[in-house]
Amino acid sequence: MKREKIIKSSDNTVNVYQIIPEKGIRSTIIDTKGKRYIDMFAGIAVNLLGYNYSDVNNAIMKQVKKHIHLSRLFYNKKQEELSSLLKKNSFAKGVYFSNSGAEANEVAIKFARKWGLLKKNKAYKIITFYNSFHGRTYLTLTATGQEKFHKILNPKAPGFIYAKFNDIDDVKSKVDNETVAIMLELIQAEGGVNVADKKFIKQISDFCKENNILLIVDEVQTGLGRTGKIFCYENYDIEPDIVTLGKGLGGGLPLSAVLTGDRVYEIIENNDHGTTMGGNPVACAAGCVIFKKIMNKNFLKEVENKGKYLMQSLKNINSEKILEVRGKGLLIGMQIKGDAKKIVEGALKQGLILNACKPDVIRFVPPLIMTKKEIDLTIKILRRII
Ligand SMILES: Cc1ncc(COP(=O)(O)O)c(C=O)c1O
Repeated sequence: MKREKIIKSSDNTVNVYQIIPEKGIRSTIIDTKGKRYIDMFAGIAVNLLGYNYSDVNNAIMKQVKKHIHLSRLFYNKKQEELSSLLKKNSFAKGVYFSNSGAEANEVAIKFARKWGLLKKNKAYKIITFYNSFHGRTYLTLTATGQEKFHKILNPKAPGFIYAKFNDIDDVKSKVDNETVAIMLELIQAEGGVNVADKKFIKQISDFCKENNILLIVDEVQTGLGRTGKIFCYENYDIEPDIVTLGKGLGGGLPLSAVLTGDRVYEIIENNDHGTTMGGNPVACAAGCVIFKKIMNKNFLKEVENKGKYLMQSLKNINSEKILEVRGKGLLIGMQIKGDAKKIVEGALKQGLILNACKPDVIRFVPPLIMTKKEIDLTIKILRRII
């Protein structure tokens, strides 16, 4: 029998899907053999408007023809436009661009610690949560509350303390005079699609205010329309001090941002932030198109409706192998009995791209433009496999 050749990543640090993609159209990937796949993973939650969205492509091409890169020492029209859009539609007084989610979180941590230095007697400790994920740089890996990521860190970066998610007593027990910030995802996406309770987040927010602690919300995965609001924090009626964004902000080009409210904004000075590539004009040109699209109320309502539809359709599969379906908007996790990887492999063979974020959790983060028809097809395939 002829053996299929295993397709590998160039650096051998990840097991890649055993197909070679040729192109994408809307929510579909087409491989080099012409086979089509519904994409429920969207480039790890990046492709908010799917593949080949013409307004995004055109904005990129238009900017490419002007200049791809100058530097932050020049006025950057597209960056200014995106910054204004972000400020107008959030609590933010300041917006600071960088290239990746991890980098945005690094900047957030740096800003919080500067604030601690000036405003809270050099407080520097940051509470993060078990099962969180904040990136793969040294500092953000330490911030990430998952031991499996800490194995290669020797020593870990100082000043991170882990608390139990959705457990206010545990958080309070970990705070002391040196605590400068609490940093969290409102839905722990990589960590298994764990949704924060509204009450817990309100308690955290109140606690931060009462105790002069900053609240940092990592919206790298939950932000930009994913949960049916521009920012997930809007679902929780809170106003964080810092929010980080990334993933789809640049339409697939590297772009991330840190949003700061009043008290952090006022301590950031010349040279506290800098980056050669961050806020690149091409990525920002794409970002302006994307942001204008996702800030539209009807678009957001559609995301909310499709999220509910996907969630209900998954529940309706009604199999004893499905233990729980949870999430918000188009960020949904399905906890199963058994090996999620096997379902991912089976789905791929049948034309469906899935992801297992945990050995027993399948994560659904489709493009926000996915249609109900594509959701129905997804369910049909899943029914066959499960
Ligand atoms: C919540 C969250 N924060 C940070 C990151 C890191 O982003 P990046 O991979 O762009 O550095 C991710 C990536 O999955 C994420 O989900």
